[in-house]
Amino acid sequence: MSLPTGTHVLPDMEAVAREAAERLIVACGENRSERIAICLSGGSTPKTLYGLLAGPDYATRVPWERVHWFFGDDRVVPWDDARSNVRMVREAFGHGSRIPATHLHFIPSDEGAEAGARAYERTLLDYYGGDTLVPDRPLFDLVLLGLGEDGHTASLFPGKPASDETRRLVAPVPEAGLAPFVPRITLTFPALASSRHVLFLVTGAGKRAALARLAAGDDLPAGRVTGAGKVAWLLDEAAAG
Ligand code: 6PG
Repeated sequence: MSLPTGTHVLPDMEAVAREAAERLIVACGENRSERIAICLSGGSTPKTLYGLLAGPDYATRVPWERVHWFFGDDRVVPWDDARSNVRMVREAFGHGSRIPATHLHFIPSDEGAEAGARAYERTLLDYYGGDTLVPDRPLFDLVLLGLGEDGHTASLFPGKPASDETRRLVAPVPEAGLAPFVPRITLTFPALASSRHVLFLVTGAGKRAALARLAAGDDLPAGRVTGAGKVAWLLDEAAAG
């Protein structure tokens, strides 16, 4: 199976998380301005990375006072719901996290998918300081993404309208294509593309089929992600097969 270009296979989840942490530190170091924007992935894979960043090996290497953390998507559930990516991120970074409260930009889920999508698009554009993203000034320094077993990424599912959105930066997803089957709010391809770096973290044998479909050229949402720079994939051996 020929893997997507820019793919790196590492022994296990821990090694994937450490490589991702090193790349995140590099991406931060490349940005000398007073603000760095990182878009977090949801799901379970990135938990190890987030825990590493908050842990003794990396906590002193992350420029916490400059980094702003955004979300690639979330489920439309209360933030204390076990399915919420906000809850996952808060728990993974730890409640004593060094992230300044004003630097964690949650996707609002209390008024439904459409209202939350509109509000989050405003949040992104207010941070960006303009009403349209321009290619030579990416919104994000780094976008972290995962891969669903159906080839989705963020909450851009095969065959769902949000995956065809080319204007809005954030879209509602009334019907998820994979569990949890709750409405979602997701960044769209134009928003994900506005990033200096894009990094997929994919682990576990459950992702082999989706990776094989991508390698075979199937048109899956994860395969449509672009970035200002190269899109890189970090896989563990279980996923790479
Ligand atoms: C989400 C994620 C989603 C995730 C993939 C992989 O909110 O669920 O944004 O795109 O990255 O579904 O999920 P796992 O890491 O749990 O396998």
